[in-house]
Amino acid sequence: MANAIYPDLKGRTVVITGGGQGIGAATVRLFADQGAKVGFIDIAEKPSQALADELNQGGATVLFKKADITDIEALKDAIADISATLGPVTVLVNNAAHDQRHKFFEVTPDYFDDRIAVNLKHAFFAAQAAIPDMIAAGGGTIVNLGSGSWLMGSEDLSAYATAKSAAYGLTRVLAREFGKDNIRVNCVIPGWIMTERQLALWVDEAGEEAIARNQVLKRKLVPDDIAKAVLFLASEQSSGMTNQQIIVDGGWH
Ligand SMILES: NC(=O)c1ccc[n+]([C@@H]2O[C@H](COP(=O)([O-])OP(=O)(O)OC[C@H]3O[C@@H](n4cnc5c(N)ncnc54)[C@H](O)[C@@H]3O)[C@@H](O)[C@H]2O)c1
Repeated sequence: MANAIYPDLKGRTVVITGGGQGIGAATVRLFADQGAKVGFIDIAEKPSQALADELNQGGATVLFKKADITDIEALKDAIADISATLGPVTVLVNNAAHDQRHKFFEVTPDYFDDRIAVNLKHAFFAAQAAIPDMIAAGGGTIVNLGSGSWLMGSEDLSAYATAKSAAYGLTRVLAREFGKDNIRVNCVIPGWIMTERQLALWVDEAGEEAIARNQVLKRKLVPDDIAKAVLFLASEQSSGMTNQQIIVDGGWH
């Protein structure tokens, strides 16, 4: 089935963190399909550069910046470079994260800080870096990627889920503070999405059974299911929506 066209996304400068693989890569592709100018930041150079090259060869405008999003100065520099190269940022998708499993009693203070850094802190500072462009442009949209893990209370993800729950809190404070600047901020909460990483690491027989038992939709969800929701929230087709979380989980919750 063909995807929707959002004319207002054409020519917009979009920043996506963690755009090299998984849901982020699907999101990069869909924004590029709209004719948006896409800057994405990722630590994984090979798949990211391959994605950018493929899309640019197809006529898209895609800029990959290599940076570790836990290095806030590097993250801010990458966003500034994207803005300088592609034009003022009016869409920010805070997508990057890392869902390494961990046993609750084995989490040390350092490991906890590390999970906050890779799953939360960068989203705050990416917003801090991008919002001035949005204010100058007369508005913008931010989409924060949360996670169903904190709603369902997934095991072995206590620090990750704690960090991801704050994607909604960040959404609420930014939406309230910058609504006056015509900046809309929403959160997409994915259920269990069949990225390459999930399939390689975590989707075993028990996982398949859990999906079949818990989802209302019996098919497995794929990155495009999330990317489509992100595009809708970024576009003017959701013009009255802000301060919200949307759960895209096949009806698990
Ligand atoms: N896949 C799921 O089932 C699922 C479920 C709930 C929430 N989510 C959320 O969706 C978003 C995308 O997840 P995904 O499953 O596509 O992940 P993924 O692991 O497939 O991709 C994440 C991307 O982020 C990049 N990244 C990781 N650490 C980085 C760092 N320090 N600096 C720069 N880039 C870094 C990776 O290289 C990768 O390209 C995340 O916010 C995640 O929490 C995913």
